[in-house]
Amino acid sequence: MKIVRSIPDLKAVRRALRGSLGFVPTMGYLHEGHLSLVRRAKTENDFTAVSIFVNPTQFLPHEDFKTYPRNERLDLELLETEGADLVFLPEVRDMYPAGHRTFIDVEGLSSVLEGASRPGHFRGVVTVVAKLFNLTQPTRAYFGQKDAQQVSVIKKMGVDLNMDVEIIVCPTIREENGLAMSSRNVYLTPEDRRHASILSQALLAAQELLRAGERNGDRLRHRMRQVIETVPGVEIDYVSVADPETLVEVEHVTKTALASLAVRFGHIRLIDNIILD
Ligand code: PAJ
Repeated sequence: MKIVRSIPDLKAVRRALRGSLGFVPTMGYLHEGHLSLVRRAKTENDFTAVSIFVNPTQFLPHEDFKTYPRNERLDLELLETEGADLVFLPEVRDMYPAGHRTFIDVEGLSSVLEGASRPGHFRGVVTVVAKLFNLTQPTRAYFGQKDAQQVSVIKKMGVDLNMDVEIIVCPTIREENGLAMSSRNVYLTPEDRRHASILSQALLAAQELLRAGERNGDRLRHRMRQVIETVPGVEIDYVSVADPETLVEVEHVTKTALASLAVRFGHIRLIDNIILD
């Protein structure tokens, strides 16, 4: 496994690879969700590259950039075990040297749901992903359904900017109690962690209601709220049943819809989603 930290080294290593490259961009503190993407990339490509970069431009000023969990040594051990071929660990000063001025904004899609709660977040995500795509020149890039809106925004960027990278979306990996795995789950107390199963329970309740014949968007959203409100001390940021492509809230579910939600446990914010069908 090659470990590369500088941009010139990455370009040199990339040029020497002959064959398809699967790329998994991450912010590290790897868990089974990340590793599932690496495994999938390995089965579909000649080579697999992973980036670990806590991207400052996607954090809002009051967010946890400084305290975001990091463990480079363990991440590298895990990636070695999985058989990744290349790991790119750039420095902030190399990705954003003084005078960096170019940012990419996917209009509309970036300003609803997560984008409404975290204005500017997707501008940072899309910009860094575009830079990482330019640097690694992947054949395919792997993203988790866990961050459904991130997937929609990145797919749109790829289409609009005529990129050749194929975007592959992989299922959300969950803890036994249904909690979607996330590097930020380390912030949860054992009690929060138990209560946090309410996110997936609310989504499953909407799925059940839809399967029982309820197609009305408001009633599906209301059902999710009801389930979440059974847990004391949880604050709902949003619940949504939206068109999976445009992310516009639906009045009636016709074919499929994206059910998603964000809630706060104290200062910790968790998101989850499922595709309703
Ligand atoms: P990060 O949160 O580290 O996630 C890296 C990738 O792992 C993303 O595609 C994310 O959706 C996926 N992932 C996280 N938890 C998952 C889970 N429980 N199941 C399946 N996949 C999961 O997302 C980012 O980093 C950043 O925004 C990034 C794209 C790297 C840009 O900085």
